[in-house]
Amino acid sequence: MAGLTLGVLISGRGSNLQALIDACARADYPARIALAISNVAGAGGLARAEAAGIPTATIPHREFETREAFEAEITAALRRAGVELVCLAGFMRLLTPGFVEDWRDRLINIHPSLLPVYKGLDSHARALADGVRFTGCTVHFVRPEMDVGPIVAQAAVPVLEGDDEETLATRVLAAEHRCYPLAVRLIAEGRVRIVGERVSVDGAEGPERAVLNPLEG
Ligand code: GAR
Repeated sequence: MAGLTLGVLISGRGSNLQALIDACARADYPARIALAISNVAGAGGLARAEAAGIPTATIPHREFETREAFEAEITAALRRAGVELVCLAGFMRLLTPGFVEDWRDRLINIHPSLLPVYKGLDSHARALADGVRFTGCTVHFVRPEMDVGPIVAQAAVPVLEGDDEETLATRVLAAEHRCYPLAVRLIAEGRVRIVGERVSVDGAEGPERAVLNPLEG
């Protein structure tokens, strides 16, 4: 199945990109990755894409005088590749409202918290400092404001006694790797509608409601 054409934007190790690569390798998965773009030369995720035979591009933001010029290059590359849905996967550049509008409702992000709490950086440190019993991850459509937008899928993860940032990040990351492919699949199946800035998933009952929880194994 060819399915929805994805472009994945990364800045680092690309473990979420890998989760999407692995999902897309399954015969019944309704999407494929046409291009992986990094703003950082030598990012680990680029090697993951290359190993999977996925075209890659490095577009270093420092080589552009303005954010707009940097983003225009990204958009041109995505368009050339026929990308229909852009997936931010650890892409650590803020995007301008212009880019976000160009890709409105075709641009999603994964964030390591249960949004709307812990937007921005250091979400795990803040969760630990607050003593919350659960944290998690969120896949959402991107809006101009940082870490805001209609929520497609979330996974809850327990915070355990003795956790530090690293152990908590590892547990949340495992959930991210399930949550992102789930969210992309629902979108690729054409079952995701944005109604009044909230996501409604057609025909979704039980776990298909785009909720992954810690009791589910
Ligand atoms: C992931 O935990 C992702 O949620 C986070 O960066 C990590 C990237 O890891 N993204 C953000 O914090 C965006 N605000 P990866 O490169 O292994 O996928």
